[in-house]
Amino acid sequence: MKNNLLVSTIIGLNVFAMSQVTHASSTEKPQVPAWTGAALAETISAMPKGDIQRGQVVAKDMMCIACHGEQGKPYTMNFPSIQGQTQEYTMKTMIDYREGRRWESYKRADVMVKIAENMTDQQIADVSSFYAAQTTTAWQKPTATYEQAKALVTTGDMSRMVMACAGCHGAEGQGNGVTPALAGQIPQYFVRTMQAFHEKDRVNDVNGMMDQFTKGLTPEEIQAIADYYASLMC
Ligand code: HEC
Ligand code: HEC
Repeated sequence: MKNNLLVSTIIGLNVFAMSQVTHASSTEKPQVPAWTGAALAETISAMPKGDIQRGQVVAKDMMCIACHGEQGKPYTMNFPSIQGQTQEYTMKTMIDYREGRRWESYKRADVMVKIAENMTDQQIADVSSFYAAQTTTAWQKPTATYEQAKALVTTGDMSRMVMACAGCHGAEGQGNGVTPALAGQIPQYFVRTMQAFHEKDRVNDVNGMMDQFTKGLTPEEIQAIADYYASLMC
């Protein structure tokens, strides 16, 4: 009940804040050490085991469903899809929001920071296992750039140091452990978060690798890849 009230307040504030061009965060970004691969692996393996049924209750009580939809597929393009996301990636992301490691300055992440700050490890593990148990569905139909994007995703382009996305994110975009699933992701969020990586505004990944491996892509290619993943389902 306490959580419900808290989250309603946050949602109210957030809707208000989103209508402003900019809004100041209430606190400064905390100084958090960057992840090393080893520290991340240790943190994830130390998390409690998640329970799907309890996770469904967390998703309702903490009102995740208000923005991310009943099963993690949002009703609008304003929020990312977390349906079928790997449990490890969702846990990592929630920890990053909670510790202030993921704190993009366009302020969209603010709402998640405030929610995650009030979650225990057990709630995070439970809600993450609930979303991991949901079947991924496509967000949109394939577009005209599907084949062009598929070629880039599958083979990359070493002349520009663009690595094959599929090598890490999976042949079907299904993700693997802390590497997120991209299948069914909302293109607007996809493009926005790629920009955040490239502007070094999103720096919660190990060794800043997402920026390094995808820097060579043009904005048109990023849009094409976003549309490609949005049309996959696994
Ligand atoms: C008021 C709306 C709102 C509520 C409620 C909300 N979220 Fe979010 N969530 C967002 C927004 C907006 C983003 C995108 C933030 C960004 O761009 O960093 C997001 C991002 C996320 C992400 C990162 C997705 C990714 O692919 O990296 C996860 C995971 C997530 N939310 C889980 C949750 C969970 C679990 C809850 C409930 C405990 C929850 N959210 C409640 C709005 C919300
Ligand atoms: C070497 C492995 C690797 C390669 C290659 C790679 N990625 Fe990633 N990617 C990751 C990891 C790991 C993350 C999670 C970052 C974090 O911890 O938040 C990620 C995150 C992302 C995200 C954010 C997802 C979300 O839900 O917020 C997008 C989008 C993305 N990658 C797209 C791409 C695209 C497009 C390519 C190919 C051009 C690519 N990636 C290549 C490993 C990789």
